[in-house]
Amino acid sequence: MSQPEISIVVLISGSGSNLQAIIDATQNGIIPASIKAVICNKENAFGLTRAANAGLVTEVVSHKNYDSREQFDHALQATIDQYSPDLVVLAGFMRILTPEFVKHYSGRMLNIHPSLLPKYRGLNTHQRAIDDREPEHGVTVHFVTEELDGGPNVLQAKVPISDGESAESLAGKVLIQEHQIYPRAIKWFAEGRLKMSANQAILDQNTLPESGKQHLDGACS
Ligand code: GAR
Repeated sequence: MSQPEISIVVLISGSGSNLQAIIDATQNGIIPASIKAVICNKENAFGLTRAANAGLVTEVVSHKNYDSREQFDHALQATIDQYSPDLVVLAGFMRILTPEFVKHYSGRMLNIHPSLLPKYRGLNTHQRAIDDREPEHGVTVHFVTEELDGGPNVLQAKVPISDGESAESLAGKVLIQEHQIYPRAIKWFAEGRLKMSANQAILDQNTLPESGKQHLDGACS
């Protein structure tokens, strides 16, 4: 008997390459989930085209139509909750969220951030890592809590920083890893293996270390 599907709502702001990886993994049965809607705060984002091409429901909730962050988050929450998702997936959603919004989805909202958290929270992570002459950089999937880019880490992947590396080339290397690890973490959640409890990420009843599980190609199921 096949595993029951959970329902997911994906929030995006841009190109949606992570969304595409998640669409592909749901459509080919790797993730036992169905994407109920893709919601974007920018009406011209390419991710909306990807979603439409996959036959998914799309919604635009533009932050420009609201006077305050609270009002925007309230409208966003109302839109999301129409779909009663088991999981909300932030895939390049570039808005800071209010504590009320985050609390509402506590334990059922994941984010992907292009750095080895807790290093380089916030923006311009690739250039900052290069400027600091870091030998490596990477990406983290984490549960979302009220602390910006601060929730418990689930999964990380590392990439080396080469001599003369540009922020663009580094971002490209990191994105390849993003497309590997985000579907993997969502699959764990959909299978009931991944949870957040007491501000810690739990996989198969084991508390994950602060850095999260490390992704090594082919090494974790
Ligand atoms: C990704 O690199 C993602 O990690 C980053 O935005 C990009 C979205 O790309 N997210 C953040 O910076 C969140 N703080 P995509 O639209 O092609 O998936």
